[in-house]
Amino acid sequence: MTRALGIIAGAALILLYATMLLLIMPAIQLRTGENPPAALAPYTEAQARGRQTYIALGCVYCHSQQPRDASLAPDMTRGWGRPSVPKDYSYDNPHLMGTMRTGPDLFNIGARQPSVDWHLTHLYAPRSVSPGSNMPGYPFLFDVIDFVPEGVTAVNLPPEYRVRGGTVIATPDAMDLVEYLLGLDHTYPTDDLPQADPDDQPAAKSADDDKVSVLDTDLLSGTLLPPVAKVGATQ
Ligand code: HEC
Repeated sequence: MTRALGIIAGAALILLYATMLLLIMPAIQLRTGENPPAALAPYTEAQARGRQTYIALGCVYCHSQQPRDASLAPDMTRGWGRPSVPKDYSYDNPHLMGTMRTGPDLFNIGARQPSVDWHLTHLYAPRSVSPGSNMPGYPFLFDVIDFVPEGVTAVNLPPEYRVRGGTVIATPDAMDLVEYLLGLDHTYPTDDLPQADPDDQPAAKSADDDKVSVLDTDLLSGTLLPPVAKVGATQ
């Protein structure tokens, strides 16, 4: 009997510990996100629709949205921006931080790649702009028509990707998704970053750096642009 009591008490303690660590403490930490940064705009309607498409198509399974501190990963040198802070996620519900990095972090893709044209081409056929990419194409977000009416965006495709007898155009879903991607820009400065200890040496490169790295750096060299000026200014 005493043994059973011990097991029950032990199990209850473990459950309590896990609840504290996984639910209560993160909720307290995230409360600091209740005052959104002035520079962060809420999602527009188009961006919110694009965000739903991002969720529905599972982009989060290959892309994180959480640049890390230099002590954890070389994200800044990859041009992914300063480490994110809880406030950056003020308008995100559910958050899309992700855990996998098959592709680059997208938290600042709007600052890094602001071209609508590039995004449409890339979504239609990733390998047409990023040779060797293993990102799937999303051709079902596009239509093929004979005649492009005014106000409709034709997708810029290299000759070998063009469709014979028609022009590839973006559907509203594709345009909304691109709007969402362009809105991902958290390069504004923040006071919430932990201050670096002047005595701290720069973190040595460890084997872990490679674990979080995105596949093959050759493959990605075209997509990892140097940090944009705005990102540099916040460091
Ligand atoms: C199977 C994994 C996978 C999925 C799913 C995926 N991607 Fe990617 N993505 C990649 C890889 C790998 C790259 C890097 C090569 C390239 O540019 O295509 C990439 C690159 C990107 C880039 C360019 C990033 C940069 O820094 O230049 C954007 C934007 C992007 N993906 C958006 C999306 C969106 C939006 C979705 C969902 C509709 C999505 N991805 C789904 C793997 C994926």
